[in-house]
Amino acid sequence: MTLAELPVPPLSAAAGRIAVGGLRLANPLLLAPLAGVTIPALRLLYSKLGAGAVHTEMISCAGLLASEKMPRRRKKFGEEGHELVSRGSKADEMLSVLEGEAPVIAQLFAGDANTMVRGAEYALGTQSKIVALGINMACPMPKVLKKGAGSKLLERPEIAFEMVRRLVALGLPVWPKIRKCPPSLPLTTEAFCEGLLEAGAATVTVHGRTPAQRYTGEADVSLLPRLATLFPGRVCASGDVFSSERAAEYLNGGCAAVMLARGAIADPFLFPRTLAFLGYEVHNKYRNPSPDFQRSLLLDFGEDVCAGSGPRIAVLMVKRLLSGMFKGLPGIGELRRAAAHILSWKELRGMLETCEVYFERREEHSGCAS
Ligand SMILES: Cc1cc2nc3c(=O)[nH]c(=O)nc-3n(C[C@H](O)[C@H](O)[C@H](O)COP(=O)(O)O)c2cc1C
Repeated sequence: MTLAELPVPPLSAAAGRIAVGGLRLANPLLLAPLAGVTIPALRLLYSKLGAGAVHTEMISCAGLLASEKMPRRRKKFGEEGHELVSRGSKADEMLSVLEGEAPVIAQLFAGDANTMVRGAEYALGTQSKIVALGINMACPMPKVLKKGAGSKLLERPEIAFEMVRRLVALGLPVWPKIRKCPPSLPLTTEAFCEGLLEAGAATVTVHGRTPAQRYTGEADVSLLPRLATLFPGRVCASGDVFSSERAAEYLNGGCAAVMLARGAIADPFLFPRTLAFLGYEVHNKYRNPSPDFQRSLLLDFGEDVCAGSGPRIAVLMVKRLLSGMFKGLPGIGELRRAAAHILSWKELRGMLETCEVYFERREEHSGCAS
């Protein structure tokens, strides 16, 4: 059974749609853009877990423009994941969208407005399922900064605003994502948001850490309600969403939507649990997932990753999610430790298919001890 065939959706069909950043979404919990993580198979998994919309990884506009010149070929993998035939560029692959994904926001990055617009035109010409164009103005990583992109744009507000103005002309909602601006930057976070919104951004997502903080320390959660009050309905929140309570706090503070990032990778069921916490009718299968259900999700996810990115990436991604699955079951520690040594998808899949032996073995042990 593939994910697309799962019989029960997490949300009841009766749930109404809400307006966020020029889109009509099923709910305000969105999967954040995560480089190296939010590949199509993972976005599909979180769509099934209830994400109202999902983001691609940040995609290099320069990379897209380079791939325009490359021949398009389909990717195939050898038994243990060696790529046999390659198709286009990495940037190009990031644009693929799977059947069953929630609305997909393509997040782009570039250091100047011309490259941004040409990259966006290429993206829209290649992938008709994109519903909004994200702009990364938040990434603090040196390889992005040295191109003048990511959070470097916080130092160059005029370029950032021009990017928004010119992307708006392409006809889709534009979703810049920024970080908190420290006093050393030319504009405050408030003034930067105002500039982006005046330039036509449909919403601005703010991660309440400065670029220098990267992912350390705590996100400034008090910043978001202040911005939401200044720009009602136009601000989305990101930062330290590890619990349902934190997501609700952002929404109650007036944010239009909340992005789940590391919290959702550490605990995939944070999505359905938080939806239930917010009052959405969530099917019990997702609120209290059985080990069998969790296993089938992981296996389908692994197969989807394998088909799109190859078995080597499937092993990495499934192991990453495994740490948040089967929580509280006896024997899970042993299963994770055994999985850590596995390098082939075939072997890992086999282990998951029979993982109940770990849980049963543990139960027997605890029975002996008592
Ligand atoms: C591995 C990783 C990759 C990320 N990649 C992106 C990205 O491509 N684009 C972006 O705007 N933010 C990116 N982020 C930032 C997240 O979207 C999010 O804003 C940040 O993790 C704060 O949320 P959290 O504290 O709830 O994790 C990334 C974060 C991590 C940990």
